Amino acid sequence: MNKYEIKAIILSSAVLAIFFFAILYNLFARKIDVPACIPYDAAFQQSAVKKTDDKHYEVYVIAKMWTFDPAEIVVDPGSTVDFYLSSADVVHGFDIENTSVNMMAVPGAINKVTVQFNDYGTYRIVCHEYCGAGHHNMMGKVMVMPTN
Ligand code: CUA
Repeated sequence: MNKYEIKAIILSSAVLAIFFFAILYNLFARKIDVPACIPYDAAFQQSAVKKTDDKHYEVYVIAKMWTFDPAEIVVDPGSTVDFYLSSADVVHGFDIENTSVNMMAVPGAINKVTVQFNDYGTYRIVCHEYCGAGHHNMMGKVMVMPTN
């Protein structure tokens, strides 16, 4: 075998090992939730913010040209929020700044991610998949503040 082939194999094996380690590190050490694709259910076509207990919410978000429904979500500090995301028309993006949430909103599919909001503040939601003329204005927000 050519010595350059051996070097290429060693180098690509090392890169693969680094990527694999990065995935495991984020999953277990940083506890970053990997978005899940759940079976389609028409119940999720209705947008809603449901407080299921003291520190837990279920939020059903519908992305559509060119807004998120609901566009404003208010949760208590320290809450864990399950986002169920779908789209009413084309593919949109769903990125919540300063969190690990970064998903696609796909028509006919539901993507789910769980995130914990510990710090007070306003977290912008931006669409980061080009979806037409109003794409640059497609935003929403999560406001973390006491709700009662
Ligand atoms: Cu929706 Cu870009």
